[in-house]
Order: sequence, then structure tokens, then C-alpha cells
Amino acid sequence: MNRKDFMLQTGAAMLAFVLPLKNTYAFGPDDQTAGACIPTTTDILGPYYRPGAPFRSDLTIAGDPGTILNYKGKITDENCRPLADAIVDVWQANSDAAYDGTSADYKYRGKFQTGADGTYSFRSVKPGWYLNGGQYRPAHIHFRVTKEGYTELITQLYFVGDPYIANDPWASDPAAEKRIVPIAVAGGEDTALFDITLQGSTTGIGEKQQASPVTLAPNPVRDLLSFTSPVTLQNIEVCNVAGQLVLSAYGLNVKEYRLPVQSLRRGLYFCRIETAKGIYVHRFVKE
Ligand SMILES: [Fe+2]
Repeated sequence: MNRKDFMLQTGAAMLAFVLPLKNTYAFGPDDQTAGACIPTTTDILGPYYRPGAPFRSDLTIAGDPGTILNYKGKITDENCRPLADAIVDVWQANSDAAYDGTSADYKYRGKFQTGADGTYSFRSVKPGWYLNGGQYRPAHIHFRVTKEGYTELITQLYFVGDPYIANDPWASDPAAEKRIVPIAVAGGEDTALFDITLQGSTTGIGEKQQASPVTLAPNPVRDLLSFTSPVTLQNIEVCNVAGQLVLSAYGLNVKEYRLPVQSLRRGLYFCRIETAKGIYVHRFVKE
């Protein structure tokens, strides 16, 4: 097969490959198919995470300034079934934009376990804006959500109307769209609703991942994505969530390959990997 034929065939194959993914994993207001919940997108961990936060749902501190906010939501799987016993670990700056990085009080940090209905809630203040280099980051809450059998989710919550979203590389990413939530008055206090969907490690595309002999690492990845396989790797194509081919490597005939991914924007990507034994689909997150 010459290169032109290969590209044509690959193009047709990519179309078939991408279309179902668009229906299931693309982002935007119309992307949710009936009966399906879209996995919540990831965001950077940031430098301020501290393990060991206490289990508590009231993070407010008597005498501290700030606008009190209630945060509520439901954790579900991709079939919109509530996930009980998920651990939600949150951390944020106080209203003066400072993180507690050292104290035993773990100020404005806490963990919660979801009940049978998958819901979580906590009470805190609206975080302040802090400088990141030369510009302010929009107000945000960091979330780390874990549940056995599901991919760990590290993400951030933003607020509608925040003037610093537009210039923030993470909050302005289209993948963050559903994590920018309005603040509404409920029960006499301002409330932000944020539902979260975890990606099952053994559902949907994950089943193909499980069956695949190819290993991708690291994931999330920043610079170089390594493909390792006991069978020969032939061609690799990477698509973004819009289905556009963004990277490719053809005619490899190796069992290990490192693909530079520095040029990619942050977000979720899909790989179509042709090997000597079959074609496999993987996904990865670019940090
Ligand atoms: Fe932060």
C-alpha cells in the first residue's frame, strides 16, 4: 500500500473511529447522549495540594472574612448512576487568596465521602484571586475525587462571571466549560452546584484499553508519550475531542516509541494505534 492509499484508508478509518467518540466524549452543550453522563474534565493539580486533609464538611473559620458559599453536587458514573463511597478532597485559597500550605489546621481543606445517593456538600468561602506570574487566576476550588474502579479525577471549579477566566489558560480551555458554574441563592445562602462524573476504568473505551497490549505512559503527559507493546507498533494517530487529527507517526515497526506531545493544548486526546496484531484505541490527557 502506498502512502496516499494508506492516508485515504486511514482517513476513512479515522472518521469511523472518531464519530462514536464525538457522541460520547466531545464537550459542549449538545454532547450528552440520552442516559449518558460525560466524564468531568481534568484540570491541573497545582502546587498547593496537601494530602491528609481532615474529613469535615464545614470549612468556614469563625472571624475570617469572605462570602459564604455552599457547594453541592452528585458524583455519578458514565451511566449517571450515583457513586457511593467516593472520596471528594477539596482545597482552596481563602478570601484573601492565600493557601494554608503548612498549618496543622488544614485551613480551607477537607474531605467528604459520598452517601448512597452519590451526593456531597460542603460549606466554605468564595476563594480569592491570586497572582500566577503576571496575571490573576480566577477564583477556583480544587477537587480530587477517588473511587475504587474509577479513574482518579483531579479538576477545578470556576464561577460564572469571573473576570479572570478569559485570560486564564486552564479556565478558558473549552474543556473547562462545564466546570464554570453559576452561584445561586438556595436556602438563604449562595450555593454553587457542581455535579461530577467519573470515568469507569472498565467501561466503554476502557474495555478496549484493557484488551490492548499497548501501554501508554505517563498519563497525564506533559512532553513525551511512550508507547510500549509486546507486538510491533505500526502507526499511531492522535485526535482531539473534536475529531481532528493532531499528531501521527507512521511506518514505525518498533515495540517502543516516544511521541513528542509538547505541541498539544491541554486536554483529552484519543489514540488509534495499529499494531501487528490489531488496532487499539487509547486515550490520554495532555497536561
Ligand atoms: Fe489554586
